[in-house]
Amino acid sequence: MVKILVTGGLGFIGSHTVVELQNEGYEVVIIDDLSNSSIKVLDGISTITGKTPIFEKLDLKDKAGVEAFFAKHSDIKGVIHFAASKAVGESVQEPLLYYENNLATLVYVLKELKKLPEASFIFSSSCTVYGQADELPITESAPVKQAESPYGNTKQIGEEIIRDTCRVTPNLKAIALRYFNPVGAHESGNIGELPIGVPQNLVPFITQTAIGLRKQLSVFGDDYPTTDGTCIRDYIHVVDLAKAHVVALERLLKNKNKGNYETFNLGTGTGSSVLEVVKAFERVSGEKLNYKIVGRREGDIISAYADTRKANNELGWKTKLTLDDAMRSAWKWEQKVRASE
Ligand code: WQD
Repeated sequence: MVKILVTGGLGFIGSHTVVELQNEGYEVVIIDDLSNSSIKVLDGISTITGKTPIFEKLDLKDKAGVEAFFAKHSDIKGVIHFAASKAVGESVQEPLLYYENNLATLVYVLKELKKLPEASFIFSSSCTVYGQADELPITESAPVKQAESPYGNTKQIGEEIIRDTCRVTPNLKAIALRYFNPVGAHESGNIGELPIGVPQNLVPFITQTAIGLRKQLSVFGDDYPTTDGTCIRDYIHVVDLAKAHVVALERLLKNKNKGNYETFNLGTGTGSSVLEVVKAFERVSGEKLNYKIVGRREGDIISAYADTRKANNELGWKTKLTLDDAMRSAWKWEQKVRASE
């Protein structure tokens, strides 16, 4: 079996990707430091697939630990790298924590991959690199803009580190996947998003409000130049997103890549406003959501949604699940998490 390392594999997107890798017959090794995830996710994964991935608790800032890991697992053929801190607001307050945790760790992993006979590397990037794009939908050739936060900057710098390394490392090839807004959960209800503390993102805040954990959803502004005045985003179901990681990895493993560093936008290609997301949730859950319109959130861009042609044509991948599917699965997951508390 082809062995694949998934760093941050107990996280939201990481765990869903591990499931899809196992479904495709890969042997999966997970590294996670459990700083923003729970070991219980391992049970959720094995309940779905019937297979328990190899798990090693490791903080990738531990350079010697990373070296020891790769010495032990020298048969790794590919890495899907999710491990990173991702709270935009926190990154503004703690920039050095973000530069160390998101970039020093990336350097340590890449240094080990350089030593392997050959390696395929998939990087978890984000549409945040585009800032407020001048043209919509957003293509991969849209200019990378001044990041709105240190978190976004670590994605931009991370891509440059990988690009520059691949350029002079013939045995290393990489793809950066620029996600739009990942939402939803696995249909089984066994894995999903587990935000720690008060959710920053829209959909977990919606489901926690509906379940009674939060009093009311604040909608950050309805005076934007959009159809209903609220911001527009491209909400992609996390299972579609996870499947795209397997497809991208196989593009590299099967040497179908064009050049040894590529980027792909991963979205549905459709923009949805905040109020449209709220309405979709109410429709599929039958719950009336308690929300109020408040002032704009600093740093929010007006609108972002993907031009999906490159991923459709080059990866042969497109989303299959809808916003309603995402709301339905997110609600099922929320209800299951609260029932088990
Ligand atoms: C979506 C919309 C908010 C919460 C962030 C990161 C991005 C990526 C995805 C990691 C916006 C509105 C939100 C709330 C609201 N993360 N909103 N009330 O900001 O598009 O992207 O998460 O890669 O890098 O920047 O996602 O879910 O926070 O917000 O009205 O309580 O929902 O204003 O318009 P965002 P989000």
